[in-house]
Amino acid sequence: AIASITAREILDSRGNPTVEVDVVLTDGSKGRAAVPSGASTGIREAVELRDADPKRYGGKGVKKAVANVKGAIATALKGADATNQAAIDQTMLELDGTENKSQLGANAILGVSMAVARAAATSENLSVFRYLGGEAATLLPTPCFNILNGGAHADNSVDFQEYKLVPVGATSFAQALQMGTEVYHALKSILKQKGYSTGIGDEGGFAPDLKANVEAVELILEGIEKAGYKSGEELAIALDPATSELWREGGYYEFFKSDQSQKNSSQMIDLWESWVNQYPIISLEDGLGEQDWQGWQELTKRLGDRIQLVGDDIFCTNPKIIQEAIDKGVGNASLIKVNQIGSITETLAAINTARSGGYTVYISHRSGETTDDFIADLAVATMAGQLKTGAPCRGERVAKYNQLLRIEEELGNKAVYAGWQNFKKP
Ligand code: PGA
Ligand code: ZN
Repeated sequence: AIASITAREILDSRGNPTVEVDVVLTDGSKGRAAVPSGASTGIREAVELRDADPKRYGGKGVKKAVANVKGAIATALKGADATNQAAIDQTMLELDGTENKSQLGANAILGVSMAVARAAATSENLSVFRYLGGEAATLLPTPCFNILNGGAHADNSVDFQEYKLVPVGATSFAQALQMGTEVYHALKSILKQKGYSTGIGDEGGFAPDLKANVEAVELILEGIEKAGYKSGEELAIALDPATSELWREGGYYEFFKSDQSQKNSSQMIDLWESWVNQYPIISLEDGLGEQDWQGWQELTKRLGDRIQLVGDDIFCTNPKIIQEAIDKGVGNASLIKVNQIGSITETLAAINTARSGGYTVYISHRSGETTDDFIADLAVATMAGQLKTGAPCRGERVAKYNQLLRIEEELGNKAVYAGWQNFKKP
């Protein structure tokens, strides 16, 4: 049973405050968790409660959320069975009483939700992936390394947010990590050679000023070759252009960083189709904005049989929205971010809803992270088969990849690497 819950304000990878929670059980088992934070957030995400006190951290303090954990939540959960995650989360949802967790804050609720799961796993002497996923949890996700950053994650000339490297042809997670990292280093030397910046963006990918958005894809393909791998077979490309950020009121997309050009929805779809025709792209996330459901239906008709079409901003890890998407033929995969919905139980519900519609699920970090590695365990526990947690660079990104190495080691010969499992070959 839960003996005590406490919380504190710590910093995330962008130097913004976030919530860290400590849970102690009556048997002495402990669980700690820290909450991530996005920059290109979806409009229907659960509310991240911030103090809005301009005298502290530019208004971004989380003292209120911390106080909610130490006060109302700690009181309500004292003595509760930590192994009943559904009941723990339900208690917090009822205490909050809002649809979007604006009363207590999704950052308060999620921190407790994850820390309780960790404490319960410790109490049962199990790794978190095994505690949440049971014996069946043996699938190591295919990592998607965001090695070139743009959009809201970097101050360069690239409009699209994420250009990701996917080592589909590896035979183990450890090999996938090695392949991705070798290409990352190869890309660095190519950028250097071309006189481009090798400074990095929020997720550890390089953030050079490029001549065009498509140049990023070509540079990555060059990197794959330079590292001695075959593009398309061994390493493919996944994109998250995060186009909700490019959407403008008049119903068009503006390329505000590169050339100030504009495209309507169907021109965007033409762009993606031409890229998919030319390059080994196997996954496209938020290829259209969260405001553009009609465009999404068309995009899904045009490209849904060829590549994975992932809804992030548009779905917000929300089971109700995912169901609506399934009903309307929007996308074929759901990104899963624990803080978009704000509890472990609802995250698992979102995954179940997505799967019930034949959608693949794709576990994700946020651009603002801590060294908390919960999502690595979550990816294995849910047998998601794919995960993105940035470049193989920066402590808060490699924390997750390193945890997956440990999980693969623990599973030994039971471990299965997902590889192509979720993807169609180009
Ligand atoms: P965010 O971006 O964490 O800044 O919202 C990640 C994403 O769009 O996938
Ligand atoms: Zn995204």
